[in-house]
Amino acid sequence: MRTAVLGTGTVGRAWAARLAELGHEVVVGTRDPSTTLERDAGAWDGFALVPFAEAVVGADLVVNALNGRAALDVLPALADALDGVVVADISNPLDFSGGFPPTLFVKDTDSLGEQLQRALPRARLVKTLNTVTASLQVHPPAEGTVFVAGDDADARALMTRVLTEVGHSDVVDLGDLAGARGVEMYLPLWLRLWQVLGTAEFTIKVVRPPS
Ligand SMILES: NC(=O)c1ccc[n+]([C@@H]2O[C@H](COP(=O)([O-])OP(=O)(O)OC[C@H]3O[C@@H](n4cnc5c(N)ncnc54)[C@H](OP(=O)(O)O)[C@@H]3O)[C@@H](O)[C@H]2O)c1
Repeated sequence: MRTAVLGTGTVGRAWAARLAELGHEVVVGTRDPSTTLERDAGAWDGFALVPFAEAVVGADLVVNALNGRAALDVLPALADALDGVVVADISNPLDFSGGFPPTLFVKDTDSLGEQLQRALPRARLVKTLNTVTASLQVHPPAEGTVFVAGDDADARALMTRVLTEVGHSDVVDLGDLAGARGVEMYLPLWLRLWQVLGTAEFTIKVVRPPS
């Protein structure tokens, strides 16, 4: 599969490395390739690092690993290029303007995933993995539940196949993109768990009673 990873933070790095490891073609999008190469000396050896608009050309799967507010600024300009493309949206609507812990800049009756879908009306956006720290997104523990939500059932199915290939054993399909609201509103609990557990390496497990 030809994949594009947008963003070169912790999540972008983790996904670029894992998709390449699994044999997918990976192009990485960043604001300014020369600044990123200088900042992350050696980290992008072997990867094509190009501006966002160039990265998404011809992609079958685009991973949105951008800061949440930045995604709202960056992605609308890519709307034509993302016509029909599956966009895995991992971003969170975190607002750090009031300090720590951050608040959510959209919630309850809307979500960042839905805002991005409205900005990309012909893309097939799937909200996924925002509930898990980057290392566990790409190397999941044996037990643990992740979610997909999106308006296009085929896109959710493709994303579920990718998650299974990566090693996720329990992927719950939440249905349409309104399902993004719940996984994004999990973030306050995620942040509190991070504080009290002293680690980001934990995950949700949905337990079903035996039938
Ligand atoms: N870190 C985690 O473990 C984790 C887990 C779950 C979900 N998430 C979510 O996944 C997303 C990525 O997280 P992250 O920790 O990897 O990185 P991040 O620090 O949130 O930023 C990711 C990338 O966003 C781009 N960016 C930031 N400000 C920008 C701006 N003003 N204009 C354009 N682009 C801008 C940058 O891309 P370039 O530097 O390449 O230009 C940056 O590398 C976030 O939405 C986060 O909430 C993170």
